[in-house]
Amino acid sequence: MTTRPDPHQRTAESMIATALEMDPELLSFAPELLADLDALGADVPLIVSTVAGLGDSRDATIVDLGSGKGAAAIALARTLGCAVHGIELFEPFVHTARDAAEAAGVSDRCRFTHGDIVQLAGTLPPADVAVFAALGDVLGPLEVTVGILRRYVRPGGHIVINDSCRRDGSTATFPGFEHCVTLAETRPRLTAHGDELVAELLETNDESTEDGPTEPDVIAARAAELARRNPELAEKLRAFVDDQRAEYEHLDAHMLGVVWVLRRH
Ligand SMILES: C[S@@+](CC[C@H](N)C(=O)[O-])C[C@H]1O[C@@H](n2cnc3c(N)ncnc32)[C@H](O)[C@@H]1O
Repeated sequence: MTTRPDPHQRTAESMIATALEMDPELLSFAPELLADLDALGADVPLIVSTVAGLGDSRDATIVDLGSGKGAAAIALARTLGCAVHGIELFEPFVHTARDAAEAAGVSDRCRFTHGDIVQLAGTLPPADVAVFAALGDVLGPLEVTVGILRRYVRPGGHIVINDSCRRDGSTATFPGFEHCVTLAETRPRLTAHGDELVAELLETNDESTEDGPTEPDVIAARAAELARRNPELAEKLRAFVDDQRAEYEHLDAHMLGVVWVLRRH
Protein backbone atom coordinates (compact mmCIF):
# COMPACT_ATOMS: atom_id res chain seq x y z
CA MET A 1 0.00 0.00 0.00
CA THR A 2 1.37 3.46 -0.81
CA THR A 3 0.99 5.95 1.99
CA ARG A 4 -0.15 9.43 1.12
CA PRO A 5 1.37 12.31 3.09
CA ASP A 6 -0.37 13.62 6.19
CA PRO A 7 -3.41 15.58 4.88
CA HIS A 8 -2.47 18.48 7.19
CA GLN A 9 0.78 18.82 5.23
CA ARG A 10 -0.76 18.77 1.77
CA THR A 11 -1.66 21.76 -0.35
CA ALA A 12 -5.25 22.39 -1.37
CA GLU A 13 -4.26 21.97 -5.00
CA SER A 14 -2.72 18.56 -4.42
CA MET A 15 -5.78 17.33 -2.48
CA ILE A 16 -8.15 18.50 -5.22
CA ALA A 17 -5.96 17.07 -7.99
CA THR A 18 -5.67 13.76 -6.15
CA ALA A 19 -9.41 13.56 -5.51
CA LEU A 20 -10.16 14.34 -9.16
CA GLU A 21 -7.31 12.10 -10.39
CA MET A 22 -6.13 15.00 -12.50
CA ASP A 23 -2.77 16.55 -13.36
CA PRO A 24 -2.65 19.81 -11.33
CA GLU A 25 -1.99 21.65 -14.59
CA LEU A 26 -5.44 20.60 -15.83
CA LEU A 27 -7.31 21.74 -12.71
CA SER A 28 -8.36 25.09 -14.12
CA PHE A 29 -10.07 23.13 -16.92
CA ALA A 30 -11.83 20.71 -14.56
CA PRO A 31 -15.17 22.58 -14.65
CA GLU A 32 -15.25 22.25 -18.45
CA LEU A 33 -13.87 18.69 -18.57
CA LEU A 34 -16.44 17.50 -16.04
CA ALA A 35 -19.26 19.78 -17.20
CA ASP A 36 -21.51 16.90 -18.30
CA LEU A 37 -21.33 15.05 -14.99
CA ASP A 38 -23.33 16.06 -11.92
CA ALA A 39 -22.07 13.37 -9.57
CA LEU A 40 -18.30 12.90 -9.59
CA GLY A 41 -18.22 9.36 -8.29
CA ALA A 42 -20.99 9.29 -5.69
CA ASP A 43 -23.78 6.76 -6.18
CA VAL A 44 -26.41 9.39 -5.44
CA PRO A 45 -29.55 7.16 -5.52
CA LEU A 46 -27.91 4.67 -3.16
CA ILE A 47 -26.80 7.43 -0.78
CA VAL A 48 -30.28 8.96 -0.73
CA SER A 49 -32.02 5.64 -0.09
CA THR A 50 -29.46 4.79 2.59
CA VAL A 51 -29.95 8.08 4.44
CA ALA A 52 -33.72 7.75 4.05
CA GLY A 53 -33.47 4.36 5.73
CA LEU A 54 -31.80 5.84 8.81
CA GLY A 55 -35.11 7.13 10.14
CA ASP A 56 -36.93 10.42 10.15
CA SER A 57 -34.57 12.47 8.04
CA ARG A 58 -36.79 15.55 7.50
CA ASP A 59 -35.41 17.22 10.64
CA ALA A 60 -31.92 15.80 10.20
CA THR A 61 -28.86 17.93 9.60
CA ILE A 62 -26.46 16.49 7.06
CA VAL A 63 -22.95 17.49 6.03
CA ASP A 64 -21.63 16.37 2.65
CA LEU A 65 -17.84 16.39 2.95
CA GLY A 66 -16.09 16.99 -0.37
CA SER A 67 -19.42 17.78 -1.99
CA GLY A 68 -18.09 18.37 -5.51
CA LYS A 69 -20.79 19.92 -7.69
CA GLY A 70 -23.42 19.21 -5.05
CA ALA A 71 -25.19 16.24 -6.62
CA ALA A 72 -25.63 14.20 -3.44
CA ALA A 73 -26.35 17.22 -1.21
CA ILE A 74 -29.02 18.56 -3.54
CA ALA A 75 -30.66 15.14 -4.01
CA LEU A 76 -30.75 14.65 -0.23
CA ALA A 77 -32.31 18.08 0.35
CA ARG A 78 -34.80 17.63 -2.48
CA THR A 79 -35.84 14.06 -1.72
CA LEU A 80 -35.76 14.06 2.07
CA GLY A 81 -36.48 17.72 2.80
CA CYS A 82 -33.58 17.91 5.25
CA ALA A 83 -30.95 20.63 5.74
CA VAL A 84 -27.67 19.83 3.98
CA HIS A 85 -24.35 21.63 4.21
CA GLY A 86 -21.81 20.77 1.51
CA ILE A 87 -18.15 21.57 2.08
CA GLU A 88 -15.87 21.62 -0.94
CA LEU A 89 -12.27 22.73 -1.46
CA PHE A 90 -12.42 23.48 -5.20
CA GLU A 91 -14.03 26.88 -5.38
CA PRO A 92 -15.48 26.65 -8.92
CA PHE A 93 -17.47 23.59 -7.83
CA VAL A 94 -18.87 25.53 -4.86
CA HIS A 95 -20.33 28.08 -7.27
CA THR A 96 -21.66 25.34 -9.56
CA ALA A 97 -23.29 23.61 -6.57
CA ARG A 98 -24.93 26.83 -5.36
CA ASP A 99 -26.35 27.48 -8.83
CA ALA A 100 -27.58 23.88 -9.05
CA ALA A 101 -29.26 24.14 -5.63
CA GLU A 102 -30.97 27.34 -6.76
CA ALA A 103 -32.11 25.67 -9.98
CA ALA A 104 -33.41 22.66 -8.03
CA GLY A 105 -35.36 24.96 -5.70
CA VAL A 106 -33.57 23.80 -2.53
CA SER A 107 -31.23 26.71 -1.82
CA ASP A 108 -33.22 27.48 1.36
CA ARG A 109 -32.06 24.19 2.90
CA CYS A 110 -28.95 23.27 0.96
CA ARG A 111 -25.88 25.47 1.32
CA PHE A 112 -22.29 25.12 0.23
CA THR A 113 -19.10 26.36 1.88
CA HIS A 114 -15.69 26.69 0.31
CA GLY A 115 -13.33 24.99 2.75
CA ASP A 116 -11.03 22.15 3.67
CA ILE A 117 -12.74 19.32 5.55
CA VAL A 118 -9.50 18.51 7.37
CA GLN A 119 -9.17 22.05 8.71
CA LEU A 120 -12.88 22.43 9.49
CA ALA A 121 -13.24 19.14 11.40
CA GLY A 122 -14.50 19.80 14.93
CA THR A 123 -15.37 23.45 14.26
CA LEU A 124 -19.02 23.04 13.22
CA PRO A 125 -22.10 22.04 15.25
CA PRO A 126 -22.22 18.22 15.12
CA ALA A 127 -24.54 16.95 12.38
CA ASP A 128 -26.85 13.93 12.46
CA VAL A 129 -25.26 12.48 9.32
CA ALA A 130 -21.95 13.01 7.53
CA VAL A 131 -21.66 11.85 3.92
CA PHE A 132 -18.23 11.21 2.41
CA ALA A 133 -18.49 10.05 -1.20
CA ALA A 134 -15.80 9.27 -3.74
CA LEU A 135 -12.80 10.87 -2.05
CA GLY A 136 -10.93 7.59 -1.60
CA ASP A 137 -7.88 7.98 0.64
CA VAL A 138 -7.41 11.72 0.04
CA LEU A 139 -7.51 12.24 3.82
CA GLY A 140 -5.20 9.28 4.52
CA PRO A 141 -5.74 5.64 5.48
CA LEU A 142 -9.34 4.67 6.30
CA GLU A 143 -8.81 4.75 10.08
CA VAL A 144 -7.47 8.32 9.81
CA THR A 145 -10.32 9.29 7.46
CA VAL A 146 -12.99 7.96 9.84
CA GLY A 147 -11.25 9.82 12.68
CA ILE A 148 -11.74 13.07 10.75
CA LEU A 149 -15.31 12.29 9.62
CA ARG A 150 -16.56 11.42 13.11
CA ARG A 151 -15.64 14.94 14.29
CA TYR A 152 -18.55 16.20 12.15
CA VAL A 153 -21.17 13.92 13.75
CA ARG A 154 -22.94 13.80 17.12
CA PRO A 155 -22.68 10.60 19.20
CA GLY A 156 -25.41 8.30 17.88
CA GLY A 157 -25.30 10.02 14.50
CA HIS A 158 -24.25 8.32 11.28
CA ILE A 159 -21.29 8.42 8.91
CA VAL A 160 -22.09 7.37 5.33
CA ILE A 161 -19.03 6.46 3.28
CA ASN A 162 -19.23 5.71 -0.45
CA ASP A 163 -16.02 4.21 -1.80
CA SER A 164 -14.71 1.14 -3.55
CA CYS A 165 -13.27 -2.08 -2.25
CA ARG A 166 -11.47 -4.91 -3.94
CA ARG A 167 -13.42 -7.93 -5.15
CA ASP A 168 -12.49 -11.13 -3.31
CA GLY A 169 -9.70 -12.90 -5.18
CA SER A 170 -8.70 -9.89 -7.28
CA THR A 171 -5.07 -8.86 -7.02
CA ALA A 172 -5.06 -6.22 -9.77
CA THR A 173 -3.97 -2.77 -8.69
CA PHE A 174 -4.57 0.64 -10.17
CA PRO A 175 -3.07 4.04 -9.33
CA GLY A 176 -5.26 5.77 -6.77
CA PHE A 177 -6.88 2.53 -5.59
CA GLU A 178 -3.91 1.09 -3.71
CA HIS A 179 -5.76 1.71 -0.45
CA CYS A 180 -8.64 -0.57 -1.41
CA VAL A 181 -8.84 -3.94 0.28
CA THR A 182 -11.61 -6.55 0.40
CA LEU A 183 -14.90 -6.03 2.21
CA ALA A 184 -13.76 -8.26 5.07
CA GLU A 185 -10.49 -6.35 5.41
CA THR A 186 -12.27 -2.98 5.25
CA ARG A 187 -14.62 -3.61 8.19
CA PRO A 188 -12.08 -3.47 11.07
CA ARG A 189 -10.61 -0.28 9.61
CA LEU A 190 -14.03 1.34 9.56
CA THR A 191 -14.71 0.45 13.17
CA ALA A 192 -11.22 1.27 14.51
CA HIS A 193 -12.63 4.14 16.61
CA GLY A 194 -15.30 1.99 18.25
CA ASP A 195 -18.17 2.99 15.97
CA GLU A 196 -20.72 0.39 14.90
CA LEU A 197 -20.97 -0.74 11.28
CA VAL A 198 -24.76 -0.78 10.78
CA ALA A 199 -25.03 -1.23 7.01
CA GLU A 200 -22.97 -2.22 4.02
CA LEU A 201 -24.71 -1.76 0.66
CA LEU A 202 -23.26 -2.74 -2.68
CA GLU A 203 -23.68 -0.52 -5.71
CA THR A 204 -25.37 -2.15 -8.69
CA ASN A 205 -23.39 -1.59 -11.84
CA ASP A 206 -26.29 -0.41 -14.01
CA GLU A 207 -24.28 2.03 -16.09
CA SER A 208 -22.13 -0.53 -17.90
CA THR A 209 -25.23 -2.29 -19.22
CA GLU A 210 -26.93 0.90 -20.40
CA ASP A 211 -26.73 2.09 -23.98
CA GLY A 212 -25.30 5.51 -24.64
CA PRO A 213 -22.05 7.26 -23.79
CA THR A 214 -20.12 6.28 -20.68
CA GLU A 215 -18.57 8.83 -18.31
CA PRO A 216 -15.16 8.47 -20.04
CA ASP A 217 -16.91 9.08 -23.38
CA VAL A 218 -18.41 12.39 -22.28
CA ILE A 219 -15.12 13.46 -20.70
CA ALA A 220 -13.30 12.52 -23.91
CA ALA A 221 -15.59 14.75 -25.98
CA ARG A 222 -14.92 17.72 -23.68
CA ALA A 223 -11.18 16.96 -23.71
CA ALA A 224 -11.11 16.88 -27.52
CA GLU A 225 -12.77 20.28 -27.66
CA LEU A 226 -10.37 21.70 -25.07
CA ALA A 227 -7.36 20.25 -26.92
CA ARG A 228 -8.55 21.88 -30.13
CA ARG A 229 -8.51 25.29 -28.42
CA ASN A 230 -5.36 24.56 -26.35
CA PRO A 231 -3.05 22.37 -28.45
CA GLU A 232 -0.27 22.69 -25.86
CA LEU A 233 -2.44 20.69 -23.44
CA ALA A 234 -3.36 17.95 -25.90
CA GLU A 235 -0.96 15.39 -24.49
CA LYS A 236 -2.00 15.88 -20.87
CA LEU A 237 -5.68 15.80 -21.86
CA ARG A 238 -5.18 12.59 -23.82
CA ALA A 239 -3.42 11.02 -20.82
CA PHE A 240 -6.29 12.07 -18.54
CA VAL A 241 -8.88 10.50 -20.83
CA ASP A 242 -6.82 7.30 -21.18
CA ASP A 243 -6.53 7.08 -17.38
CA GLN A 244 -10.26 7.61 -16.99
CA ARG A 245 -11.01 4.80 -19.43
CA ALA A 246 -8.53 2.45 -17.77
CA GLU A 247 -9.93 3.28 -14.34
CA TYR A 248 -13.48 2.68 -15.54
CA GLU A 249 -12.49 -0.78 -16.77
CA HIS A 250 -10.58 -1.52 -13.57
CA LEU A 251 -13.55 -0.56 -11.43
CA ASP A 252 -15.86 -2.73 -13.50
CA ALA A 253 -13.62 -5.79 -13.45
CA HIS A 254 -11.97 -5.68 -10.03
CA MET A 255 -13.80 -3.44 -7.61
CA LEU A 256 -17.09 -3.20 -5.77
CA GLY A 257 -18.74 0.15 -5.13
CA VAL A 258 -19.96 0.20 -1.54
CA VAL A 259 -21.88 2.44 0.82
CA TRP A 260 -21.00 1.81 4.45
CA VAL A 261 -22.95 3.28 7.36
CA LEU A 262 -21.33 3.74 10.76
CA ARG A 263 -23.17 4.74 13.92
CA ARG A 264 -20.85 6.96 15.94
CA HIS A 265 -20.43 5.80 19.51
C1 LIG B 1 -14.23 12.81 -6.87
S1 LIG B 1 -14.92 14.29 -6.27
C2 LIG B 1 -16.41 13.70 -5.50
C3 LIG B 1 -17.36 14.84 -5.25
C4 LIG B 1 -18.73 14.43 -4.72
N1 LIG B 1 -18.67 13.79 -3.44
C5 LIG B 1 -19.40 13.54 -5.74
O1 LIG B 1 -19.26 12.31 -5.63
O2 LIG B 1 -20.01 14.07 -6.67
C6 LIG B 1 -13.93 14.62 -4.84
C7 LIG B 1 -14.08 16.06 -4.35
O3 LIG B 1 -13.42 16.22 -3.09
C8 LIG B 1 -12.91 17.52 -3.04
N2 LIG B 1 -11.89 17.58 -1.98
C9 LIG B 1 -10.67 16.99 -1.95
N3 LIG B 1 -10.04 17.25 -0.79
C10 LIG B 1 -10.90 18.02 -0.06
C11 LIG B 1 -10.80 18.62 1.22
N4 LIG B 1 -9.71 18.47 1.99
N5 LIG B 1 -11.85 19.36 1.65
C12 LIG B 1 -12.96 19.52 0.88
N6 LIG B 1 -13.10 18.97 -0.34
C13 LIG B 1 -12.08 18.22 -0.81
C14 LIG B 1 -12.37 17.73 -4.43
O4 LIG B 1 -12.18 19.10 -4.73
C15 LIG B 1 -13.45 17.07 -5.29
O5 LIG B 1 -14.44 17.98 -5.71
